[in-house]
Amino acid sequence: MLEKITIPIDTILAGDSRAVLQTLPDDSIHCCVTSPPYYALRDYEAEGQIGREATPEEYIERLVEVFHEVKRVLRSDGTFWLNIADTYCKRPQQGVKRKDMLGIPWRLALALRSDGWYLRSNIIWEKGNAMPESVTDRCSRSYEHIFQLSKSKNYYFDRAAIAEPIAPSTLVRMRSGRSGSNKYAERVPGQTLQAINRPREAGVSEEELPTHRNKRDVWHINTTSYSGAHFATFPPQLAETCILAGCPVGGVVLDPFFGSGTTGLAAKRNGRHYIGVEINLAFCRLAEERIAAEARRKPNEARQEDSAKASASADKAAKNASESLEKAKKEEA
Ligand SMILES: C[S@@+](CC[C@H](N)C(=O)[O-])C[C@H]1O[C@@H](n2cnc3c(N)ncnc32)[C@H](O)[C@@H]1O
Repeated sequence: MLEKITIPIDTILAGDSRAVLQTLPDDSIHCCVTSPPYYALRDYEAEGQIGREATPEEYIERLVEVFHEVKRVLRSDGTFWLNIADTYCKRPQQGVKRKDMLGIPWRLALALRSDGWYLRSNIIWEKGNAMPESVTDRCSRSYEHIFQLSKSKNYYFDRAAIAEPIAPSTLVRMRSGRSGSNKYAERVPGQTLQAINRPREAGVSEEELPTHRNKRDVWHINTTSYSGAHFATFPPQLAETCILAGCPVGGVVLDPFFGSGTTGLAAKRNGRHYIGVEINLAFCRLAEERIAAEARRKPNEARQEDSAKASASADKAAKNASESLEKAKKEEA
């Protein structure tokens, strides 16, 4: 049963996330979903913003401090979903050679683990329509990390809410029998025997066949274009997936780097509450308007619009990719 909530819900709190979080009570939030500013990538034009530190160490230290406060306000059964991507070294003072990857995601994840978080999953968010890059000496980047962390060993996780349809090839294997002589039926030392490989008679009835399986840790979600004045939004579907698994209906989702308010939007769409913290006042207003506009729309209208935007940006990304390749070829010639 959900307890009575005595915190400011469905609200955007303006200010530096670490300071603002200190005003919230312990053990009051069900789930945190966020995407902090990536290291040395953007200027969010606000005093005290994170992401512009001289070294990766300083950046990680500041984020660990913010997320330490997140841990305090999170209930003991709460989860934390952290979207983060890497940066290439541009200056020697960043500690490695120019062109090196800084390894920010794992450095941050391990620092959080040392700070007491349980590091439960490294989910790969694969962007089918990733932005093209004019590089010719490495592969183009098309994924980001979502680390799933928890405050305690046991926590709220609604696996059924995000279960995915079972693969057709698995159904075919399940419908057919398995003889005891199949090579996978034998126990390999150090490995558990999977149920699907146990010897069995053919003809498993259709009712016995499962329809869904546990969600895999590679998520294929296209980026969606956002017309407002914010350039680093994540797709609502990404936040929704984390919220469905990590927050009960009626619970509270926190985003300490609220930006254009995608987490709030996803929370409201799914019958949850939100608290957003954002340092840039213009973004606070933008997020407020975005969430209010969504509330005025008919149910499902917004989702349909999102998927139309996702296919439009996939088309645009394909066009940009071929243009970018042409440009790279010309530069090389
Ligand atoms: C990557 S964006 C988040 C985008 C968001 N997920 C969305 O979909 O719109 C990071 C946000 O963190 C904000 N920010 C940077 N430093 C901050 C700080 N110290 N406290 C609170 N917000 C901060 C930036 O202004 C920016 O809007």
